[in-house]
This record gives sequence, structure tokens and C-alpha cells, in this order.
Amino acid sequence: MGKNLPTPQVLKGDTGWDAETAAPIIAEFAAIKGGLIPALHALQNRLGYIDDAAVPDLAKAFTLSRAEVHGVISFYHDFRREPPPKHSVKLCRAEACQSMGSEAMAADLIQRAEGQHECEVSAIYCLGLCAMAPSAMIDGKLVARLTPAKLDAHLAAAGIGFKARTV
Ligand code: FES
Repeated sequence: MGKNLPTPQVLKGDTGWDAETAAPIIAEFAAIKGGLIPALHALQNRLGYIDDAAVPDLAKAFTLSRAEVHGVISFYHDFRREPPPKHSVKLCRAEACQSMGSEAMAADLIQRAEGQHECEVSAIYCLGLCAMAPSAMIDGKLVARLTPAKLDAHLAAAGIGFKARTV
């Protein structure tokens, strides 16, 4: 039976790449068979993204070529290659939320977010809050029973300044 994988430490808002911070994370997972992908998740959780500067260290630690490490990072779309935006809004687009109007809210939000770089708007498929649909996650916080006005209030509370609603 294999060793349990360590739980990554998630530090919200800590998104600058730091090779000194990355080194022990890489070393910890390099000792585990099949540890490259968990190492990448741990690095991203801790530092916000996988900097190109980590690739040589990862290759050395996991006895892979740099091209192989690049291949793994680019194969999985969950891995970021650049620092994430300051804010994140994940709107649930799964069935229960769709039936409660999430598609219209998503379309409006995507339009209002256009051209700004402080917040990433993306889809998520079920947050486990179906009975309180439509729901979303704003900077890691779950919000539910959304209406356009409630969504705007949550965005404002999070300090996300999108363009004014036009409809
Ligand atoms: S479908 Fe949206 S929370 Fe389940």
C-alpha cells in the first residue's frame, strides 16, 4: 500500500512565485511514486500557478526531461502557467442552477467582465447547493439563492468592480 499524499497547504491570496517555497514542496512529493501531479497541484495551491522556473527543478526531482514535465503541465488544463487574477467568480452552470436562471446571469457577467483583468469568470458544474440554486463561488466563498441583484451585492462585497448592469 502506498504512502498517503500530503495535503497541500492553501494560502489564499499568496500568488507570487517563490523558488525557495517551491523547493521543499517538490522535494516532499518527489519521494512519492507518481508524485509529479500531486506536486503540481501542491505548488499551484501554494503559489497560485506553476512558473516555468519550476520545470528544471521538477524534471531533476522526478528524473524526467523538461519536455516531459512541460507536457504534463500543459496536458492538464487545471494547471496555470501564469499568476491568477486577484478575484475569481465561478458560476454554477449545471442543471439545477440552469433551471433557476444561471445561464442568463452567466451571460450578463461574462459580458460585464470583458476587458478587465482583475477577475476571472468561469463555469463550475455543481457546487452541491442544488436545493439553493442558482449558486456560485466568489473568491472561494459559496453563495446561493442568487438573483442578479444578490450576485451584484456579493461581487461588491468581495471588492469586484464590474461594469454596471445594463439590463
Ligand atoms: S447544479 Fe448548481 S449547485 Fe448543483
